[in-house]
Amino acid sequence: MNKQRVFSGVQPTGNLHLGNYLGAIKNFVDLQNKFECIYCIVDLHAITSYQNPKELRSNILETVASFIASGINPEKNIIFNQASVAEHSELAWIFNCVARIGWMNRMTQFKEKAGKNKENASVGLMVYPNLMAADILLYKATHVPVGEDQKQHLELTRDIAKKFNNDFNSKDYFPIVEPIISKDYPRIMSLRDGEKKMSKSEDSDYSRINLKDDKDLIDKKIKKAKTDAEPIPSEISGLENRKEAFNLISIYASLNNKKIDQVLSDFGGKNFSTFKSKLSECVIETICPIGNEIKKLLKDESYLYTNLSKGSKKAQLIAKTNLKEIYEIMGLTKFSL
Ligand code: TYM
Repeated sequence: MNKQRVFSGVQPTGNLHLGNYLGAIKNFVDLQNKFECIYCIVDLHAITSYQNPKELRSNILETVASFIASGINPEKNIIFNQASVAEHSELAWIFNCVARIGWMNRMTQFKEKAGKNKENASVGLMVYPNLMAADILLYKATHVPVGEDQKQHLELTRDIAKKFNNDFNSKDYFPIVEPIISKDYPRIMSLRDGEKKMSKSEDSDYSRINLKDDKDLIDKKIKKAKTDAEPIPSEISGLENRKEAFNLISIYASLNNKKIDQVLSDFGGKNFSTFKSKLSECVIETICPIGNEIKKLLKDESYLYTNLSKGSKKAQLIAKTNLKEIYEIMGLTKFSL
């Protein structure tokens, strides 16, 4: 039996937003009381698209600050950056040899990110999910909290684990991971377009609430958020084909740990301007203290680097032991200095 362990990662590409918080980081915080948790700043994933080195360095620190400011305890959990643990890249290579080209061709996120210019995308972007599987399986993690957009990558991780266990006759060596995805609010959408997910890379800053936005900006963004002319319905069926309305109600429900129908019974029949002012209040109440703490922590780089370095060393210990086992299972020998 593999020990229960949580692993998850966030790319240090700047502008962490309410979608990252409600879809992932809020769960990271809740899980720390129940599991041994490892949270990674996945800098090697970030470079699958070009990153300006100076910005990357500061985004890595900002991601550590965001984890700690959101309530992840760096003493109790492991917070580290992927580049500090070389075993991630080594295992990713092994998984490049386990995963099948047909599996990679099915990955929808690659198609979305590469867009029309697929021939010009980096090879790293194509094999990105294998590095993600390596992140998780290097620690033999059993549970992975993510937003819904990562679900297909976790299915691939399960396929890789099963194929490895089977190919090398080592039943149950890698655990078959369980995704932890919020059932009620798996995907927070853009404030400007209910068809698109809220994203760091969307051009309009009005499409998202960033963790560092101040009170006035949050209020402005919510006032400008797209809705429709109908009042708020009392029943969930009244939200059908009203993606923007559904999104705002979901955000409110998630922030208040309520079910959508509870929110509808409180606000049914009211207009959106009344609802938006309540929504603004609760977004500000949750996000502004986190944003203020991020800004405060960013002034103390040595505190952030110390935590990152401590976490990286703890991660290395587990990673080295497990990779040695994996090499042995595969018949590989690694001589060291
Ligand atoms: P990334 O950096 O794009 O996003 C970090 C986390 O935030 C979630 N998320 C959302 N959830 C709900 N609504 C949204 N609009 C939204 N936008 C982002 C993501 O699902 C994710 O959980 N490939 C991953 C990083 C990664 C990883 C891993 C995750 C690398 N290795 C191993 C888990 C385990 C990514 O790009 O996340």
